[in-house]
Amino acid sequence: MSSAKIIVDRHFEISEIDPRVYGSFAEHMGRCIYEGIYEPGSEFADENGFRKDVMALVKELGVTIIRYPGGNFLSGYDWKDGVGPQSERPKRIDLAWHSLETNQFGTDQFMTWCKAAGVEPMMAVNLGSAGLNEALEILEYTNVDADSKWANYRVANGHKDPYNVKVWCLGNEMDGPWQLGHKSAEDYSTLAASVARGMRQIDENLELVIAGSSNRSMPTFGQWEETILEKAYEVIDHVSLHTYYQDHGNTQEFMVCSTDLDYFINEVCEIADAVKAKKRSDKTITLSLDEWNVWNLSEYQNLPRAKTWEPAPHVIEDTYDVADAVVLGNLMISILRRSDRVKMACLAQLVNVIAPIRAEVGHPAWRQTTFFPFSYTARYGQGKTLMTRIDSPKITTEKFGSVNAIDAVTTYDAANNCSAIFLVNRSLTDTHTTEIELAGFSDLKVIEQVTLTDKDLTKTNTLETGEQVQPVSAITATVSGTKVSITLPPASWQMVRLSLKQA
Ligand code: AHR
Repeated sequence: MSSAKIIVDRHFEISEIDPRVYGSFAEHMGRCIYEGIYEPGSEFADENGFRKDVMALVKELGVTIIRYPGGNFLSGYDWKDGVGPQSERPKRIDLAWHSLETNQFGTDQFMTWCKAAGVEPMMAVNLGSAGLNEALEILEYTNVDADSKWANYRVANGHKDPYNVKVWCLGNEMDGPWQLGHKSAEDYSTLAASVARGMRQIDENLELVIAGSSNRSMPTFGQWEETILEKAYEVIDHVSLHTYYQDHGNTQEFMVCSTDLDYFINEVCEIADAVKAKKRSDKTITLSLDEWNVWNLSEYQNLPRAKTWEPAPHVIEDTYDVADAVVLGNLMISILRRSDRVKMACLAQLVNVIAPIRAEVGHPAWRQTTFFPFSYTARYGQGKTLMTRIDSPKITTEKFGSVNAIDAVTTYDAANNCSAIFLVNRSLTDTHTTEIELAGFSDLKVIEQVTLTDKDLTKTNTLETGEQVQPVSAITATVSGTKVSITLPPASWQMVRLSLKQA
């Protein structure tokens, strides 16, 4: 057993946590929408066709904002196909996922579902096969209260009040050659800036997200951000970044992959700030990490493309194991650590498709392993993040060099006199005792401690096994003055919650 030391000081704050960092993503892809959140006729569905068991788990997961309708799907989507009487909606082929889109679920269903789920909608406009007109039309449909064509159509469809959607993404992954309507950074940012200006002519208070890089390994990463921000800096608020991680056969390296996310976030901030300096701007661009997760992507890339156009096919329904859950908890630590700049983050996706929630026809929905670190972090990672200085034994891997075995972040909820420390032990072999000093606090008491780990890191929660992987709740931490001592088993995620006072 070797030991790590963590020092936190109440006076050294990073930032207020934007609740929207606990977002998710619902794309018209595979069975995320259909047979995921929407399954009319199912024994689990309500009168709107929304699966009640899925809705209950969405609430328990604690998501705050949901991005919709895609994803790669977005770039070929005509939003008008998804509104109006359901019996009159056209079926379309979806080029992104080679499936059949029935359009039975569309903007109004999504808004109604969001309201019932208690989440904020984050909409995206198609800048692949569509452009300025379509963006203005959907914005009029969702947000305008006027005697005008698209506002009246919304009313005619039974929705008198505008939805007032605040956050809009300007296209999706436009840097990716796989994207329908893929563009150069120059062409994309010219379009995105003009769409942003037009949308602001309808509502100047929108929050607009320009599409940054699809991942840090994109050959255009860096230059892409610089070009699009140069062009659109003053008319957008956030730049997006997307990232997915997988075990490429070296689980120890996989366990420390959040290092890549740390670099990615820092680099996007640095590029945005360089553009800010060049422009002598007072405005700081913030980040929307609006797709992130663990995803066994290379397995998907090797699959032959579907030859038939089927509605709601089983697509990338990854089954997550214990190692995936620990990594996901670590990625959330990275997100919170940069709560000064990351203002929105969407776990991609919500149900069935690389998702924390799974649902099958005729069976109650269940929680994947990754559900747990997300739900605990979303529920208790409230208030502000505090600087968390970590002195830890190291792990060395070829890809990431020497990095800390222990990673952690501390949140402080002053209104409720409590703090949550989220930690991971990324070593596959070593147990680490960890001493956490909380300077500037008094009367420390551990009120909850949950740990997620297993000797078998490949254990999963499936329809057959049930939820065999669960976090264990047991207080083993000890407190002495301002110090808390804990033990972190190999490959584990842990949350320690404390009640405390300001010293
Ligand atoms: O989330 C799955 C897909 O991953 C999205 O459609 C796309 O934006 C990304 O490449």
